[in-house]
Amino acid sequence: MADRAIRVAVIGAGMAGRAHAAGYRNLRSLYGDAAPRVKLVAIADANRPLAADLAGKFEVERVETDWEAIAEADDVDAVSVVLPNSEHRHVVEALAARGKAILCEKPAARTAPEAMAMAAVVGIASSFADGAENALVLDAVKRAAADGTPVMISDERLRAEAELAAEGALR
Ligand SMILES: NC(=O)c1ccc[n+]([C@@H]2O[C@H](COP(=O)([O-])OP(=O)(O)OC[C@H]3O[C@@H](n4cnc5c(N)ncnc54)[C@H](O)[C@@H]3O)[C@@H](O)[C@H]2O)c1
Repeated sequence: MADRAIRVAVIGAGMAGRAHAAGYRNLRSLYGDAAPRVKLVAIADANRPLAADLAGKFEVERVETDWEAIAEADDVDAVSVVLPNSEHRHVVEALAARGKAILCEKPAARTAPEAMAMAAVVGIASSFADGAENALVLDAVKRAAADGTPVMISDERLRAEAELAAEGALR
């Protein structure tokens, strides 16, 4: 694992985005040494005052209104996508193309085909659905930081669909 902190941005400063930001900030107090070192470096939301308010609460210096600025940023390793579901696919695909590790809020997509299209461009590292979710997420983030592979962490449904697709059960 890299020595430096994983630099994280949150795209979407609404209800769930606030929970993500709080989670990153509290990672070490919740998980101790098992937690990777994480630095929250940017908050993006089309609603600038909302993004600025969240950034202020967590002493994050950078506020963006365009998610593209996060995709293009060289100083962002991992991104929480906490946007409305209609925005997930194109944002996740663009982030994956830029090599970002991605934590996409559930539901990952609006339809199974949309989820499969997303699964085609990212590695599915883990899922959010059972009691082991936190350990799985931490492992996935550590792996992403160690080898630079883009990963997306999302929900159990996406993983199940990916497994079915791998078995040839979904077309
Ligand atoms: N895990 C859960 O239990 C849970 C609970 C609530 C929401 N969610 C999920 O979290 C995601 C976000 O939900 P929410 O309740 O936080 O929504 P929200 O409406 O509170 O926040 C979404 C934010 O995205 C911003 N936004 C929308 N389009 C944008 C764009 N193109 N570029 C930049 N910013 C944009 C909006 O300004 C808004 O602030 C959804 O996928 C939702 O299903 C999950």
